[in-house]
Amino acid sequence: MTSIRIQGGPPIKGRCHVPGDKSISHRAVMFAAIAEGVSRISNFLDGGDCRQTVRVMRRLGVNIEEQGPTELLVHGRGLDGLQEPDDVLDCGNSGTTIRLLAGLLAGQQFTSFLTGTDQIRRRPMGRIVSPLRAMGASIIGRQGGDHAPLAINGSSLRGMEYDMPVASAQVKSCVILAGLYAHGLTVIREPGPARDHTERLLAAMGAPLAVYGSTVHCERPTEPLQALDIAIPGDPSSAAFLAAAAAIVPDSSITIAGVGVNPTRTGFLDALAEMGARIEYRNPRERSGEPVADLDVSAGELRGATFGGEQIVTMIDELPVLAVVATQAQGRTVIQDAGELRVKETDRIATTVSELRKMGAKIEPLPDGFAVEGPVRLMGGTVESLGDHRLAMALIVASLAAQGPTTIYGSEVTADSFPGIESTLQALGADLEVRP
Ligand code: S3P
Repeated sequence: MTSIRIQGGPPIKGRCHVPGDKSISHRAVMFAAIAEGVSRISNFLDGGDCRQTVRVMRRLGVNIEEQGPTELLVHGRGLDGLQEPDDVLDCGNSGTTIRLLAGLLAGQQFTSFLTGTDQIRRRPMGRIVSPLRAMGASIIGRQGGDHAPLAINGSSLRGMEYDMPVASAQVKSCVILAGLYAHGLTVIREPGPARDHTERLLAAMGAPLAVYGSTVHCERPTEPLQALDIAIPGDPSSAAFLAAAAAIVPDSSITIAGVGVNPTRTGFLDALAEMGARIEYRNPRERSGEPVADLDVSAGELRGATFGGEQIVTMIDELPVLAVVATQAQGRTVIQDAGELRVKETDRIATTVSELRKMGAKIEPLPDGFAVEGPVRLMGGTVESLGDHRLAMALIVASLAAQGPTTIYGSEVTADSFPGIESTLQALGADLEVRP
């Protein structure tokens, strides 16, 4: 277990990058595997979760060449070319891996078994098992199929109309992938704008997929999916931590280059701007069908605000760090309609509240979010990641603004999604030391 010691106070300044987008990295490898031809993936996220997807896809018979830690060549096997794995597929800590893979495997002509860490085995799987079963999938799992391990006996699937009860890109993507193997049309209606990387990438590969507002239609391709060169944008969810630090540590001013600004992912930047931070999108461009920009962020007078409704899904992974920003804003910030936080890597309502209170935050848990009173002077101390990468990084941001030194235990989990956050912050001027 490693820890990080941070002395709060120094502003962060300069230009930086963030690693490739985690959601797109998973999808790029999985979809390239069922395309025909060789796909080149650059700026792949060399983090724990995405590495697990690479391992699992190799177990399904896919040849993945590494031309460096972030450059992959994936030799596609075609829609029906995956092979029965000779062992259980270990999805590690990755919800995206297990949930998307379940959709991909439900319609194969072989059997597979999916499991992961104890953290992943605690997370709900009924949300994917139930629509997959409605399409004809044969899946068993613990507690009636709500928990991994999952055993998937590949079977013939039929398209269906599905009204998603929760706005979740993992559920939507799982059903779309099953829809590629189903007879007939699959129609999915989502209650909120969950990230649409699956739709963009599959459509670019030539899949018969159409989006009409909040409805996705897809069906089995009659032509092979085409291999692509995929240049993955910087992850806006990783950029959020740097942007938050720049917004709350006085005198900070940074540029984060090459960040994905897909509108299904920019809720946090919108929230930060609404609270008074100065944010500019510069040099807008497109990278492999995804909008990208350089972000200038600097500290400003922050004020509390209320966030809820459809905006929540566009910043779901950023809510712990939004709570940190709220501790430095004038007045009350309320985050509501975010009950999904309870079923992430940890119960992020409980863990964010417990760790931020140790630093003096005035934060109350709500059944579906939190309420924060600010501004408070955060105090350094000792806090824990509790095995949750986004909590660890939210605590790093809080420590940068705190008085006195903070030690964050279990900080190695940051590498799940943002390997190198420590050196990135050091290069921007943060007083931060990693201790083995
Ligand atoms: C993800 C979707 C979100 C998000 C997760 C990644 C994805 O989860 O929290 O970090 O890549 O599809 P849900 O689909 O459970 O909301």
